[in-house]
Amino acid sequence: MFLRKELPVRLANTMREITLLPHNLLNQPSVQLVQSWYSQSFEELLDYENRSPEDPHTLNDFLDILLRIRNRHNDVVPTVAQGVIEYKEKFGFDPFISSNVQYFLDRFYTSRISFRMLINQHTLLFSDDINHAHPKHIGGIDPNCNVVGVVQDAYETAKMLCEQYYMMAPELIIQEINVKNSNRPIQVVYVPSHLFHMLFELFKNSMRATVELHENNTEGLPPVKALVTLGQEDLSIKISDWGGGVPLRKIDRLFNYMYSTAPTPTLNGSENAAPLAGFGYGLPISRLYARYFQGDLLLYSMEGVGTHAIIYLKALSSESYERLPVYNQSVWRHYQLGPEADDWSNPSRDPQDASTFKANT
Ligand SMILES: Nc1ncnc2c1ncn2[C@@H]1O[C@H](COP(=O)(O)OP(=O)(O)O)[C@@H](O)[C@H]1O
Ligand SMILES: [Mg+2]
Repeated sequence: MFLRKELPVRLANTMREITLLPHNLLNQPSVQLVQSWYSQSFEELLDYENRSPEDPHTLNDFLDILLRIRNRHNDVVPTVAQGVIEYKEKFGFDPFISSNVQYFLDRFYTSRISFRMLINQHTLLFSDDINHAHPKHIGGIDPNCNVVGVVQDAYETAKMLCEQYYMMAPELIIQEINVKNSNRPIQVVYVPSHLFHMLFELFKNSMRATVELHENNTEGLPPVKALVTLGQEDLSIKISDWGGGVPLRKIDRLFNYMYSTAPTPTLNGSENAAPLAGFGYGLPISRLYARYFQGDLLLYSMEGVGTHAIIYLKALSSESYERLPVYNQSVWRHYQLGPEADDWSNPSRDPQDASTFKANT
């Protein structure tokens, strides 16, 4: 009853917002393809608005349609990314377009995360097969998610990739500090697949940086460290490496969808050819997962030395409500208005402007 209203509303919001993108971007074939997926799914969901919940077929049909929609939207992220690349190649990017695209993608992908979260909850809870691997999970949610366990899983998976790629990988050292109850392992009500996704991306990044900087060291690779802490409000996970870091000036850029320092991997369709890096989507999407339940993901770097990445989650499930984009006037304004003039002096950026300013005063 909840989903048959909620899902079309979320799709409709996204579809409205897509239309605010620059026309040339909207006209890219990949963007049009994605738009057609959204329209079709929207129409299919509308059929359920007035179907009787008493009818024994309704629930089953709804389940089928959700599975079909989920499959249809599997490749939304790479397809939209493709559209943005096509656009950039043809028309180039100015700072205004680029900030609009960034703004749009954060909201678009958040909406997609939420949409899939709802679909997954429904299909897991209402389909007949019980989740034998995790009988205590409620849909995709683990009421007692052991954080160190997920850290270890994500590390092992990233390590396999890293070893395939570089024939070596740094060790992991984990420390856990439970301020609330020092004898108990840290647990949280969370979606383990989301946590895994974020940690896996952070480990891949740390491993790549570490190996690239130290692969010829005779003393071997410095380990990657994970510190998991639980306070009253925050559950924090810090992943630290000695991979040489990133200068402060570039930190914001790392969360840009178009930014990667790795060569762009080729998508050859074979399942086991997961690349270690190169799409530039690792950090921005991971931050969306963290923010989706009111957490965050921050990067602190000390250039030349190494990086700390911290995932913040809410310690209490009562505070982990969804963070969703809303579609309203200020969104519309965001896409229409040009960038504001800088209200801090910036002599290095535009010396000519600075001199006219002096002349005028
Ligand atoms: N721990 C780190 N140390 C050094 N550089 C990093 C680290 N994490 C991320 N980066 C830089 O940020 C860029 C973007 O990372 P990410 O979003 O994961 O995309 P990708 O890994 O596909 O390039 C990387 O290409 C790398 O240059
Ligand atoms: Mg990465």
